[in-house]
Amino acid sequence: MDLERLLADRLAPAFAAVAGGPVDPLVRRSPRADFQSDAALALGRRLGRPPRDIAAEVLADAVLDDVCVSAEVSGPGFLNLTVADAALADLVSGLAGDARLGVPVTAAPQTVVVDYSAPNVAKEMHVGHLRSTVIGDAAVRLLDWLGHRVVRVNHLGDWGTPFGMLIEHLVDLGEAGAAHELSMGDLDGFYREARAKFDSDETFRERSRLRVVALQGGDEQTLRWWRLLVAQSERYFLTVYDLLDVTLSEDDFRGESAYNDLLAGVVDDLDRLGMLVPSGGADCVFPAGFSGRDGEPTPLIVRKSDGGYGYPATDLAALRQRVGELGATRLLYVVGLPQRQHFAMVFAVARAAGWLCPPARAEHLGFGSILGGDGRMLRSRAGESVKLVGLLEEAVTRATDLARRRNPELDAEAAAEIGRAVGIGAVKYADLSTDRTKDYVLDWERMLALEGNTAPYLQYVYARIRSMFRRAGTTARPDAPLVLTSPAERALAVELLGFAAVVGEVERSLEFHHLAGYLHRLATAFNAFYERCPVLRAPDELRESRLLLAELTARTLRQGLHLLGVRTPERM
Ligand code: ARG
Repeated sequence: MDLERLLADRLAPAFAAVAGGPVDPLVRRSPRADFQSDAALALGRRLGRPPRDIAAEVLADAVLDDVCVSAEVSGPGFLNLTVADAALADLVSGLAGDARLGVPVTAAPQTVVVDYSAPNVAKEMHVGHLRSTVIGDAAVRLLDWLGHRVVRVNHLGDWGTPFGMLIEHLVDLGEAGAAHELSMGDLDGFYREARAKFDSDETFRERSRLRVVALQGGDEQTLRWWRLLVAQSERYFLTVYDLLDVTLSEDDFRGESAYNDLLAGVVDDLDRLGMLVPSGGADCVFPAGFSGRDGEPTPLIVRKSDGGYGYPATDLAALRQRVGELGATRLLYVVGLPQRQHFAMVFAVARAAGWLCPPARAEHLGFGSILGGDGRMLRSRAGESVKLVGLLEEAVTRATDLARRRNPELDAEAAAEIGRAVGIGAVKYADLSTDRTKDYVLDWERMLALEGNTAPYLQYVYARIRSMFRRAGTTARPDAPLVLTSPAERALAVELLGFAAVVGEVERSLEFHHLAGYLHRLATAFNAFYERCPVLRAPDELRESRLLLAELTARTLRQGLHLLGVRTPERM
């Protein structure tokens, strides 16, 4: 059990007695003691009593003797709690014998569908897809580790009117030529050429239009070409996933086209429910609470005036399938914030139609943009959107160079492996360590730095611990008695005990910067400890205890970084 929880459990009955009902004791880390409870302040306001009196009453009532060496009222009515060394040592020993480092498997497993990555066929993945892929994959790893049933869905954009011109372009190039061009990973080039012909050539445009009709009509030859485009793009995306070291596989592709047969049913059912409103030849739903700047209600268009179904209808069909067939109770959509309104409306319509009812709930995990050094949307020098693979390759090259410079005796293979773990780790960590909803600047120097809240810093601390064990030719004994006397040892122990609380919080919020921030604090606490407390040169009993603290730090860093999808090389 983590310390915050333990202390809160001890304080809760005493607070409840004062308040005459349950009160959250609001226990958190404090610079003045180990922990602090703030609950008496709000309670005092509510009861019209001095908070210090309430705090004193709670202290008199709560059973803390076996956990705390000191518990006192301070300031306007805080409770300052200092944990006893023996209690601390006991709890940390508990971690040592636990493969899960104090993090329990969930008591309430859910089926969670994570919709992420979702690039578009015959189009380059852009940095927005990078964010979705990295954040979604962290969600998958964390929820899976906690014992939930996780279903990855890569909602590939594989349908729609552009496929008319894309297929005609493929026909012009010949199958072999098109396959070659697409396998080079020049998806944008392919798209641009098709687009250029579409814009300038009247016959090509007409061919494209007819091709869309053939595609929707299920013409076998057309479908074969379409599948070729999809397959080539999928193959290319898989190489990106491999480079990015994410858990997405070819089994997770479930493109928009997979819902084609369900779309008519969605619209019919909305009609039967009386929710459909014709508007300008299209069929719309007007969910309550959505209006434009002019105050006019905003429609969700479920059938366009040309009779086709679009993006919103597909998302409604997908949602219904995820709840109905997959049995999902938690639906996550990792998509950029510009689509916030779209998802809010889709969820509102699904709720109104009765397709999304408790316990099932949907969450849009929106995210901001990646900016260039000029503070504007990341663009290449030619003003085009930056190619994701290029960015990842640059990260690996830079990290490999740095590894070689720091460590000239590394052979080429070892340097390449470290470069890959550090470079890719740095890109992912830079993303996950900032508040998801904010924009951030892509800054190579900062994200590859060995100092600060970066992947290389955490990887370095991990490797440092591993190298200490190699040097000593020993391992830590999990049942070694812990001696926590110096402040740096205590501080490290308290951090180690905080892992479960932060993982539990991120399970709910999916705000991975809280986990990143925790790992950074842990690594920093370890460095402070390692500077002040000799380990290998310490007398026997202390040495065993300190080795165990180091081992636990390494395990926690490794597990925490693994949840973020960041590798931990054994040496750096
Ligand atoms: N393909 C879309 C895009 O690139 C993202 C799809 C997100 N998922 C969804 N269920 N709508 O913007």
